Amino acid sequence: MDAVTASLEVSGLAFAYPDGHQALFGVDFAIARGERVALLGPNGAGKTTLVLHLNGILSGGTGTVKVAGLPVGRQHMAEIRRKVGIVFQDPDDQLFMPSVREDVAFGPAAAGLKGPELEQRVRTALERVGMQDFADRPPHHLSFGQRRRVAVATVLAMEPEILVLDEPSSNLDPASRRELADILRSLDVTVLMVTHDLPYALELCPRSLILSDGTIAADGKTGELLADDELMRAHRLELPFGFDPRPAPVPGGRP
Ligand SMILES: Nc1ncnc2c1ncn2[C@@H]1O[C@H](COP(=O)(O)OP(=O)(O)OP(=O)(O)O)[C@@H](O)[C@H]1O
Ligand SMILES: [Mg+2]
Repeated sequence: MDAVTASLEVSGLAFAYPDGHQALFGVDFAIARGERVALLGPNGAGKTTLVLHLNGILSGGTGTVKVAGLPVGRQHMAEIRRKVGIVFQDPDDQLFMPSVREDVAFGPAAAGLKGPELEQRVRTALERVGMQDFADRPPHHLSFGQRRRVAVATVLAMEPEILVLDEPSSNLDPASRRELADILRSLDVTVLMVTHDLPYALELCPRSLILSDGTIAADGKTGELLADDELMRAHRLELPFGFDPRPAPVPGGRP
């Protein structure tokens, strides 16, 4: 994949935390513009560690990360932070202003947008997640699912090159989970989604990566990976009871 078509390129990424614990051992993959990819793997596999490298929150290991051809590093940090929108698992890590409107305006305003242009950007982002009627509410008065949507809006307002979500469906009720899926599907943006919710990965992401013990153990079609019992067992991945990842047989089709 060349730099023009890749939203994200990770090459030879290895990283040890300051206490000496090595979390990533040479990770390589690329994501083309417009792709939606799930990042699967058991607890402790290194998923969050990898995500925190995508906009330079963590650095100092070896290897490279490039976003739309631009290397993640001190030199381009402001631009990288605009291009990589990370929705953290806990929306409270992301919302800190007195109103929803101010939270969504925060990033674009810091990037220099103002006046009617800024207002329009905020309105559009809130409309895309169905939260336009909550603009004047304090974020801490909203429900968890509503805060998750606002967190997504704060990131969309930056018009990112790639949207990275850490466990987007966790703690959502079934209707909110489905509504967030509809939102993600409607976006015309590259998505990398960390999830333990395997049916969600299958529904939203044609391709998945399995990260296990700090290396990419598999990279392929989500349906094929989830149907590979041996692969799943080897990496502590379990489908929910009764869930069959294989496509349903076509009614009236050949046996
Ligand atoms: N600040 C830290 N210092 C030292 N080790 C850490 C630190 N943060 C994480 N680790 C270790 O790095 C490894 C990868 O952790 P990470 O949080 O990236 O896993 P994960 O795949 O996101 O797991 P989960 O599914 O539980 O969220 C784990 O063994 C973890 O104990
Ligand atoms: Mg994690």
